Amino acid sequence: MLDRLKELGREATAALQSAATLMELESVRVKYLGRKSELNQVSRGLKDLESDERRSVGRAVNELKNELGALLEQSKERLESAGEPSAGLDLTLPGRMPWVGGKHPLTRTYERLESIFRGLGFEVALGPDVEDDFHNFDALNIPADHPARDGWDTIYIDDDSLLRTHMSPVQIRVMESRKPPIRIIAPGRVYRNESADASHGSEFYQLEGLYVDRDVRFGELKGVLIRFMRELFGENVTLRFRAGFFPFTEPSTEVDVKCLICQGSGCSVCSGTGWVELLGAGMVDPRVFEAVGYDPGEFSGYAFGLGVDRICMMMTGTDDIRLFLENDLRFLRQI
Ligand code: DAH
Repeated sequence: MLDRLKELGREATAALQSAATLMELESVRVKYLGRKSELNQVSRGLKDLESDERRSVGRAVNELKNELGALLEQSKERLESAGEPSAGLDLTLPGRMPWVGGKHPLTRTYERLESIFRGLGFEVALGPDVEDDFHNFDALNIPADHPARDGWDTIYIDDDSLLRTHMSPVQIRVMESRKPPIRIIAPGRVYRNESADASHGSEFYQLEGLYVDRDVRFGELKGVLIRFMRELFGENVTLRFRAGFFPFTEPSTEVDVKCLICQGSGCSVCSGTGWVELLGAGMVDPRVFEAVGYDPGEFSGYAFGLGVDRICMMMTGTDDIRLFLENDLRFLRQI
């Protein structure tokens, strides 16, 4: 019996000393010192032994218990000071990065556009989301009852207030309050009374531009737009200037970019045409100058309006404009 105790002592000592974690140490304690341990069984069987043997084995059992108890404490201290705060925690695992959020892709796109235009000498102007007929239409040479108004399906609030259908009214507000030279961009959300599809939203973002001074030519408009597109999409971007019509510019143009989603082979974003319309532009119509009290004989200028969402689609490879307003975190985190 005494031999067996010695052997148990050696085994338990080795196990206590080699335990590498607090959890391991705890299972060593249960095995050698716990209620069901061999040592405890011997201790409980003492009463059945002859008195001589009981005395010697009893002493050996007590000594062993004390010895192992002290060793257990030592091992515990060793593991705790080695940075093992609680059982089962692996401190070598890399931490989980908290997600700190990010800017919406449309915000990032707008900031990019703003910085390019600031570099070209434009400053930012703002206007109200709720407009009146005069600024949204009349002053832009779109009189009441004129069929051109059908081009903008309008959400009216009452007879004379509406949600702006485009950013062009900011042109009027700026010209009403200042004299040329004027070189502004006006970013903002616009509203249309129409149903959305992959490339048309009923709410979307536009960026309007206006430059008014003496002797402004169409060539300058073209130069600024080409410079802008190249800054944005790279020097190799393919553009297409088409003749267009807008009541507030004459002549007018619409500018398309070769679809960067499908490289021109046709997809849902470009409706299979290979081209995406990104902006309308032109030379400010003399009637617009008259509406704000400028002399069309003295001043000339150009204006443009571009679709921020479409540009964001091209920049991020997104093929459905509606995703930008859904606020699905799975989408927002991905792009
Ligand atoms: N306001 C137009 C629209 O909503 C876009 C536009 C076209 C703005 C031509 C302009 C322009 O300034 O010159 O569709």
